[in-house]
Amino acid sequence: MKFFIDTANLDQIRDAQDLGVLDGVTTNPSLMAKEGIKGADRILKHYVDICEIVDGDVSAEVIATDYEGIIREGENLASLHPQIVVKVPMIRDGVKAIKYFSKQGIRTNCTLIFSAGQALLAAKAGATYVSPFIGRLDDISTSGVGLIEQIRLIYDNYGYETQILAASIRHTMHLIECAEAGADVATCPLNVITDLLKHPLTDSGLEKFLADYNKTNG
Ligand code: G3P
Repeated sequence: MKFFIDTANLDQIRDAQDLGVLDGVTTNPSLMAKEGIKGADRILKHYVDICEIVDGDVSAEVIATDYEGIIREGENLASLHPQIVVKVPMIRDGVKAIKYFSKQGIRTNCTLIFSAGQALLAAKAGATYVSPFIGRLDDISTSGVGLIEQIRLIYDNYGYETQILAASIRHTMHLIECAEAGADVATCPLNVITDLLKHPLTDSGLEKFLADYNKTNG
């Protein structure tokens, strides 16, 4: 399973990269705004800065919602750096644009996926990734992990190569359940990745090992 970090914060991206388990980064306009990144030039430069920190794919989202605008913006984003994946919303013109990008060899991440039908449509259009937002589904009392299971089944039935990028992951249980359900990628905040380290029996076990060592060697 690939781990992406879901942030535009360069320190957190460096931190995850330093851990040695990072496979890529996802951003969105809300995450860019949270870091105070505004203005077209600054936003584009920020994407390049992210690409220079990590080795893997970096999703950069278009703002346009019309076909021509998505194509224009997506081509510009893709030309920034070979690691850029163009993030396109699951709307009618977005699906048409994903089809166009796929023919051009431009990789895409179809975002704001909330149903199996949307994921099927994105795969048929040739999306490289689909991003089902599992936390936001849980928020409305619908199983986010259940959607990952549904998409996995459908993609495996037909051999779609589109990768399932589980997004809106809020805690380690989400991440583990997505791994069990066969998501190809999980994108999550840094704390969810580092929370995987934690177990009280690891802490107490290590404490005892060190105490025993010190008894005989101290
Ligand atoms: O990857 C999508 C993510 O940024 C949304 O997360 O927690 O706002 O639903 P959240």
